[in-house]
Amino acid sequence: MRVSWPLELVESHTELASTQNRAMELARSGASEGSTVIAQTQSAGRGRFARVWFSKPGGLWMSVLLRPALPMERPGLLSLLAGLAIHDVLRNISSIEAGLKWPNDVYVEGKKICGILMEQEARSGAIILGIGVNVNFLQADFPDEIRARAVSLRMCTGQKHDLPAVAEAVRLALWQRYQQFQNKAHALTLSEWKKHNITLGTWVNVQYGPGHVISGQAIDLSPEGFLLVQDRQGLTQTITAGELLAEQP
Ligand code: BTN
Repeated sequence: MRVSWPLELVESHTELASTQNRAMELARSGASEGSTVIAQTQSAGRGRFARVWFSKPGGLWMSVLLRPALPMERPGLLSLLAGLAIHDVLRNISSIEAGLKWPNDVYVEGKKICGILMEQEARSGAIILGIGVNVNFLQADFPDEIRARAVSLRMCTGQKHDLPAVAEAVRLALWQRYQQFQNKAHALTLSEWKKHNITLGTWVNVQYGPGHVISGQAIDLSPEGFLLVQDRQGLTQTITAGELLAEQP
């Protein structure tokens, strides 16, 4: 099934520094919503908190340009919906039931299969959703630092997958979830995310700035998609952005 983003534009590159950078350029030059940049490999792929993102050939490395209505309501929901879209794709392709970790990691059997990076292009206000999915890697392909924590679609299904077909499936799922969002079905995005999440109800340590860590139980999401954590004093803290460190049982 073809994806019908308006005035669609898909750029496929053999190699880029980062698909995020190229999508930012496209945003500045007025490219339309849904424009997508894909690279077989990235020499400077980046993750959240400016971390290096493993980007060898065999993964789906893509960035999608969004221009949500401004002023943008609840941007945090956009990254939740991207995780949901990946959840949809994995379920459709191979009946995998992925778990969503706040804010936007996708896990299968306790290992990360996909990371999502949401950035805003300053001048145009466009949102660039960067999506990295481990598709055709074997465990030995991952670098030592992440080998124990990463998994791929191939490892889950025992077979290689056609990257362009996976890319198209991701675009379709994203478009469908984004349509919901634009139609103001925010509550639906939230409730669907909660249905498939692996964060709520667990004890978490949330790093939300240099040296700032909150420990407590992840109890809910706010209507904006922020994480509500009840600390040991029973106070509820709202985490707008951050990273979940080791969880305790
Ligand atoms: C994370 O989990 O930290 C987010 C990882 C996002 C990686 C993707 S791969 C495509 C796009 N280009 C990048 O440089 N990063 C994102």
